[in-house]
Amino acid sequence: MNKYLFGAALGASVFMLCFDALAEVDYAKDIQPIFDNSCVKCHKAPYEKAGRLRKPKAGLRMDTYDFVMKGSEDGVVVKPGNPEDSSTYKLTTLARDHEDAMPPEDKADPLTAAQKKLLYDWIKEGAKNSK
Ligand code: HEC
Repeated sequence: MNKYLFGAALGASVFMLCFDALAEVDYAKDIQPIFDNSCVKCHKAPYEKAGRLRKPKAGLRMDTYDFVMKGSEDGVVVKPGNPEDSSTYKLTTLARDHEDAMPPEDKADPLTAAQKKLLYDWIKEGAKNSK
């Protein structure tokens, strides 16, 4: 590789790295799919099964941004800017055998490290909806 090409390749990779660090987490693209995959099964709209009305667990729906931000019967589950104090993030980081761990042990796979980081970053960046 001649030195100009090398310089251009190096410049491009530095640019990509910076761009990656600056890119914000996008709710619709990055976060809702995680919820749909791991949470909505239990945290969804009320439905009837075998003649009984099934309500979302803890009164929390996670099928849309607005429901997530509305929270559960116990209050907010996402505090913008404060992932450590947001149960939606915190409960996914508990030990798998912790009784409050989400999703509950044996009911669904735990979030991957990459998914937890997305969730953390999304809340840290202000828990905004997609534009
Ligand atoms: C298999 C069903 C199930 C799945 C899947 C599940 N949950 Fe839950 N979730 C529950 C139940 C049941 C409760 C109520 C626990 C209790 O009251 O002790 C709960 C409670 C919660 C609460 C506490 C609400 C509050 O304020 O009390 C949060 C936050 C939560 N879940 C987030 C999540 C997230 C995030 C996911 C996906 C990563 C998830 N859950 C997946 C069943 C589930």
